[in-house]
Amino acid sequence: MTLQDLGERGLVLLGCGKMGSALLAGWLKGGLLPASVWVIDPHPSDWVKAQGVHLNADLPKDPAIVLVAVKPQMMGAALPSLQAMGNGRTVFLSIAAGTPISAFEATLGAKTPIIRSMPNTPAAIGRGITALIGNTHVTESDLALGEALLQAVGQTVRLETEAQIDAVTGVSGSGPAYVFHLIETMAAAGVAQGLAPDLAMALAKATVAGAGALAEEADEDPAQLRVNVTSPNGTTQAALEVLMDSQSGFPALLNKAIAAATNRAKELSRG
Ligand SMILES: NC(=O)c1ccc[n+]([C@@H]2O[C@H](COP(=O)([O-])OP(=O)(O)OC[C@H]3O[C@@H](n4cnc5c(N)ncnc54)[C@H](OP(=O)(O)O)[C@@H]3O)[C@@H](O)[C@H]2O)c1
Repeated sequence: MTLQDLGERGLVLLGCGKMGSALLAGWLKGGLLPASVWVIDPHPSDWVKAQGVHLNADLPKDPAIVLVAVKPQMMGAALPSLQAMGNGRTVFLSIAAGTPISAFEATLGAKTPIIRSMPNTPAAIGRGITALIGNTHVTESDLALGEALLQAVGQTVRLETEAQIDAVTGVSGSGPAYVFHLIETMAAAGVAQGLAPDLAMALAKATVAGAGALAEEADEDPAQLRVNVTSPNGTTQAALEVLMDSQSGFPALLNKAIAAATNRAKELSRG
């Protein structure tokens, strides 16, 4: 499957809420013609209605790809209507959390090319990261097109096994919430040290955003960046002695938190 196939055979977007709309906005901005896109959504937003895509219209018989962006709990109601596209050339690319490839194979047929992926919320501003893995019917060019579509909202990484999706969920899928909580707690700690709440929040947000951007852009790895700003017996060292404590610091805490999220992801995908 290639970008040309997409233009000729069409792309179906099943579910156009927060994630589906972020993706659609990225594709259209990247030059995909609205006439190549069929959106299925029971309550489309005014924004979707204004994009010139086919909306809740008759679908092409053999679309190049179906991007599945409904909530996992809506899957049972939404997917069977596309059963006729299974076991063929149409690639199904799902971003739904906790819905294993086997569940798609069960509904669509075991020969259906299926890509499962896990994005995260910074996708809303084009700064997401999505991990993806395909079943054995997915070709290299299918995966490459899947990546190109997901790169409309940020970076992509490929996985080696579907089981790794649970750990990805624990790190990057749920991760933005950990960072939001870091911002909250940094700001609260600043208030405890005498800063006004608004000022403390501005400092915390800009520090996390700036350090994140620096970590991505710099040639050094984050450990070296940390060493670079830690002078012996200085202020940063005083804080890092608390945060890097092997029993009570970040290492033990994040290990525990990410294990809890990963285990919960495993439980949810078992149904
Ligand atoms: N948001 C994230 O950060 C994130 C991260 C990782 C994975 N995901 C996955 O992305 C998927 C979408 O999440 P979201 O945050 O975009 O959810 P959302 O905003 O609720 O979008 C889902 C959309 O699907 C529509 N829908 C419901 N039933 C349908 C049906 N039978 N056929 C077609 N469309 C239907 C919903 O319409 P109504 O609202 O009218 O019901 C809604 O517009 C989920 O599976 C989620 O697990 C999201």
